[in-house]
Amino acid sequence: MTLTSAATAAYLVSSILFIVSLAGLSRHETAKRGLFAGVTGMVIAVTATVVHVVAGEPGTAATALLFVAVTVGAVVGLSRARRVQMTEIPELIALLHSFVGLAAVLVGWNGYLDAPYSGGALANIHHAEVFIGVFIGGVTLTGSIVAFLKLSARINSKPLELSGKNAINIGALILFGVLTSAFVVHPHLWQMFAVTAIALALGWHLVASIGGGDMPVVVSMLNSYSGWAAAASGFLLGNDLLIVTGALVGSSGAYLSFIMCRAMNRSFLSVIAGGFGAPRASSDDDDQLGEYKEASVGETAQLLASASSVVITPGYGMAVAQAQYPVAELTRVLREHGVNVRFGIHPVAGRLPGHMNVLLAEAKVPYDIVLEMDEVNDDLPQTDVVLVIGANDTVNPAATEDPGSPIAGMPVLRVWESADVIVFKRSMAVGYAGVQNPLFFKDNTQMLFGDAKERVEDILQAFREQPSLSNNSAPALS
Ligand code: TAP
Repeated sequence: MTLTSAATAAYLVSSILFIVSLAGLSRHETAKRGLFAGVTGMVIAVTATVVHVVAGEPGTAATALLFVAVTVGAVVGLSRARRVQMTEIPELIALLHSFVGLAAVLVGWNGYLDAPYSGGALANIHHAEVFIGVFIGGVTLTGSIVAFLKLSARINSKPLELSGKNAINIGALILFGVLTSAFVVHPHLWQMFAVTAIALALGWHLVASIGGGDMPVVVSMLNSYSGWAAAASGFLLGNDLLIVTGALVGSSGAYLSFIMCRAMNRSFLSVIAGGFGAPRASSDDDDQLGEYKEASVGETAQLLASASSVVITPGYGMAVAQAQYPVAELTRVLREHGVNVRFGIHPVAGRLPGHMNVLLAEAKVPYDIVLEMDEVNDDLPQTDVVLVIGANDTVNPAATEDPGSPIAGMPVLRVWESADVIVFKRSMAVGYAGVQNPLFFKDNTQMLFGDAKERVEDILQAFREQPSLSNNSAPALS
């Protein structure tokens, strides 16, 4: 077997492992196995590539550069992965997507400067690959950087509302089409500069125009773009594995975005077109919407003591506060006293798909009381108390009541339909989408200010210190 056919065989095994990995990642029970298959596939792929290059060109500068690049990348990646907090993973993923975009731009430029064909149909195809690769890579690069900045709160998550934003996006696409046709036939350096500049500006504008509430879809769309950028590089480099892997990432990312759009009642086309057709924000979102009431720890403990059904809706603030452990303990105490406690999980609560489920599983909350939003929403009118632990956008009635809101149409947990709502947060600040929350000003809502973990621990302490709370007139805890 020649070295090249051995590498091709290794690539085939890796491709199969990547498909097995994707299948495994689609369910909780098989996710670990899926990850293991993906990591194994990647180790095989990288090893086969390195061996192929080193054995093919021993002792060359390319070989030395390869080792330097792999070593630097591995050291930076490992140290970053060890330090990253779970709440920072989405922004890390966005940053990693930007590297894929950058690589695609550089591979495209290299394909132009190092053109292998002097004319004919193959040259035309090569030029098209170069141009499309640079374009997708450029959009992915700046789009992912803006996503990183928004997710890490380095810039405001509100949508950028340039006048004529749709015309800008459509104009950029038309210009790209015209330039591509010209470049395929008569390539010039200025066209390379032009497509790079257009792609970088378009990627930045597309993601900047999307509001915080739609960021989950944007992150998975950028994941998809990074896959197509990798596939485009695969064509240029003649690397089958890169083409297959890129297509897998590209199509699975696009499908995930489509499912998310459906779950959030968003138009897929509107989101990928930078908020095309989305309503403009109708109000100053930092405005207070009336008077709010504050609850004390004692009053909250009293309310829980007299409840027979409680729903807990956690959000990003629970992850920040790491409140899942005292929340799990509170759940255990209430359940021991016969209170029917359940969790209502919004599909985009937190900053990662499944973020809340992972935290609650970590704290050993039984799976069977952790319900999806759709499973719990209809039960909320019969619920005595809802504890909103660090959630905001996902329990915001503006999504259903204000058609001009940036989150209009997004399904939310209708917590205000229960008898009493206690909101755990530190201030009256808005949530990730930058929209004020009318829930906080409703008659049946009370705010319990402070760090969520500390406040839940205070409630547990109140139960311990005042046995009357657990065996007084309160039917549930008696
Ligand atoms: P958010 O709307 O992000 O609100 C979280 C709330 O937690 C904030 O209002 C904050 O208020 C509070 N908080 C922060 N730290 C806290 C602490 N230590 N103790 C108590 N409260 C604390 O939360 P959400 O309801 O989970 O909504 C998620 C948002 O993120 C949605 O807009 C969603 O579209 C977006 N997003 C989601 C994802 C995925 S895939 N899940 C990815 C990207 C973006 P204070 O500052 O006043 O405490």
